[in-house]
Amino acid sequence: MTDLAAVDYFSDPVVAQDPYEYYEYLRSRGPVFTEPHHGVVAVTGYQEVMAAFKDTDAFSAVNAIGGPFPPLPFEPEGDDITEQIEAHRHEFPIFEHMVVMDPPQHERARSLLSKLLTPRRLKENEDYMWQLADHQLDEFIANGRCEFLGEYAKPFATLAITDLLGVPEEDRAEFRLALGAGKQPGSRVGALDGEPVGLNPLQYLDDKFSGYIAERRRQPRADVLGGMASATYPDGSVPELLEVVRPATFLFAAGQETVTKLLSAAVQTLGDRPEFQQRLRENPAEIPAFIEEALRIQSPTKIDFRLARKTTTLGGVPIKAGTVLMLCLGAANRDPRKFSDPDQFRIDRPNVREHIAFGRGIHTCAGAPLARVEGQITVRRLLDRMRDIAISEAAHGPAGNRIYRYEPTFLLRGLTELRIEFTTTG
Ligand code: HEM
Repeated sequence: MTDLAAVDYFSDPVVAQDPYEYYEYLRSRGPVFTEPHHGVVAVTGYQEVMAAFKDTDAFSAVNAIGGPFPPLPFEPEGDDITEQIEAHRHEFPIFEHMVVMDPPQHERARSLLSKLLTPRRLKENEDYMWQLADHQLDEFIANGRCEFLGEYAKPFATLAITDLLGVPEEDRAEFRLALGAGKQPGSRVGALDGEPVGLNPLQYLDDKFSGYIAERRRQPRADVLGGMASATYPDGSVPELLEVVRPATFLFAAGQETVTKLLSAAVQTLGDRPEFQQRLRENPAEIPAFIEEALRIQSPTKIDFRLARKTTTLGGVPIKAGTVLMLCLGAANRDPRKFSDPDQFRIDRPNVREHIAFGRGIHTCAGAPLARVEGQITVRRLLDRMRDIAISEAAHGPAGNRIYRYEPTFLLRGLTELRIEFTTTG
């Protein structure tokens, strides 16, 4: 029996495998509670997490990714550390990306992305994803079994973003390999073939997109990348090359791992709860709710962080400027004050869409519509093309006594592998 009060959330291997008991311990100490190891204020209440997301005046996103790591590059002084944050901003992890920016810079960066994520582009991307799903399934379906993350979810999530961004067809196999999403069976992808890849994917992406966009600034073209090359800020000024490249390349960082985790959580549920397979085949209109419930119960981004820039209160608890907040999305999504029977997977919840797996406020996930569609299309095509989807007992043990391994990270929640077996239709 683990002494939960003694657990260091950030390094404990058991809690990394199953954080929910620990979240309940935190919750039992109150929805806003200072954990003892790193002095981080853990927020597990749904309404308190919401309040923190929405109060951009009191809470900065500058540490959204790293939280207490690395430690603050300065000693907080007084009740308003806004100036200190700005003076040291460039020392925070991935400071160039919008997810850690605050107003007004954040609004400028996000405005460039909204030029890309237009309803028309999302619709074209959705059309592509229907074909992509079948294409991925064709790679292994005749085997009657697969390792779902490597054979489907990772390449699917990666290729969906390459299409969204209009990466030229001939470069997509290279992206798939470079971003660690495996090689297309039987393919050779030139220079990268056989090399250790994924060493610095963000640098790789910056270089590729800088090339595409610089080329289109010299010679305009009427494609997606051409649209990005000519995008301007709301005041009409022209962004620097890297200011356009970064919002684009960040989509890979934000949308690959998270979507892989969502898709595998959804398929794991189909395998463990076979009754859903028939129900969703008969009522495909319930698939969106099924995906929302998968997002709620296994929130792929289980933790998010904020830094108190002003001395304030949250949920009635005093918070000193300089305090690191750990917003536990995975716990807030199981807050019994918000979701009845929170540990039960129920697609008929009246408030099934009110989870905060995509965050809230100005940083709300820009890829949420895309992620949702990726989940819906995947479940739909799997159910259309497979019968009797079952979890492999050889890999994961028998029903009721499964062994699943999760990525040992404090940020994300997702399986390391998922082996399934099935028969094919038709
Ligand atoms: C199930 C899949 C996904 C989950 C659970 C997820 C979760 C999140 C969360 C919680 C945030 C808020 C971060 C914060 O407030 O600190 C966020 C932001 C973001 N996400 Fe996602 N995401 C997913 C998929 C995607 C996809 C597919 C894309 C794009 C292709 C994407 C792009 C972004 C971007 C650009 C931001 C930053 C927005 C901003 O700072 O304004 N995400 N995501």
